[in-house]
Amino acid sequence: MPADREVSVHLLPNLTNQECLTGSLAVVIDVLRATTTIVHALAAGCTNVRPCAEVEEARELAGQMRIGRALLGGEREGLPIPGFDLGNSPGAYTPALCRGATLVMTTTNGTRAILRAAAAERVLLAAFVNYSAICEQIRQDARPLHILCAGTEGEVSLEDSLLAGALVDFLCEQGERRLNDSARLAWDCFEHHGRVLQGALELGKGGAKLRSLGYHEDILAAAQVDAFHLVPEVKRDPLRVEVGAVGIVKRHWIS
Ligand code: MLT
Repeated sequence: MPADREVSVHLLPNLTNQECLTGSLAVVIDVLRATTTIVHALAAGCTNVRPCAEVEEARELAGQMRIGRALLGGEREGLPIPGFDLGNSPGAYTPALCRGATLVMTTTNGTRAILRAAAAERVLLAAFVNYSAICEQIRQDARPLHILCAGTEGEVSLEDSLLAGALVDFLCEQGERRLNDSARLAWDCFEHHGRVLQGALELGKGGAKLRSLGYHEDILAAAQVDAFHLVPEVKRDPLRVEVGAVGIVKRHWIS
């Protein structure tokens, strides 16, 4: 791997573009809650996740699949979408519901960020719940790295920036990196909030909204570092997310 590998953080998806992603490795982050929930869904036995930007698109896609094989999940305004099987609470994605199913999912920010990142050569999904598994994948992959934070309703979010910073911290422990300014900001965010992870997740706008809606448990679930050792990865034709790698050699979380 080049000693000065390029590591860029984009604190919102629209702060990057197709051109800069070409040929790169992208890591998408939506801690509260899309990427956390996708890790749970895959761990619970969903065979793949089909990310959709719009509610109607998700309904149509699920309608084309065999009954019983598709689960419709996601949120708008943080709440389950009428007529969908599941909302966006990670704990709701149980093996009984998920085993063998395709999850057709649409969320306000997260699934859109995944679709935007698809311009990269390889796309992985990160959350605190699969932190060490992601660390191992990004260490092994020599491509320029772009970390895309989904944010909250068009604004930069504390929890996504914090995880981006934790990944930057891990990579800088491994060797020299060329960081963009947002990577430095995210790294500072991790230095400041990394030791009080649950508190930071409760503090941000997304966490405050989830608490006001009665989803405090989802924040606790999202703060479970390394609860899973799998890495969701985007596959193509059709565009979907599957388990790309499983297992870790060691825990990398040091806060
Ligand atoms: C999103 O994608 O917008 C989020 O995951 C929001 C949420 O879960 O409420």
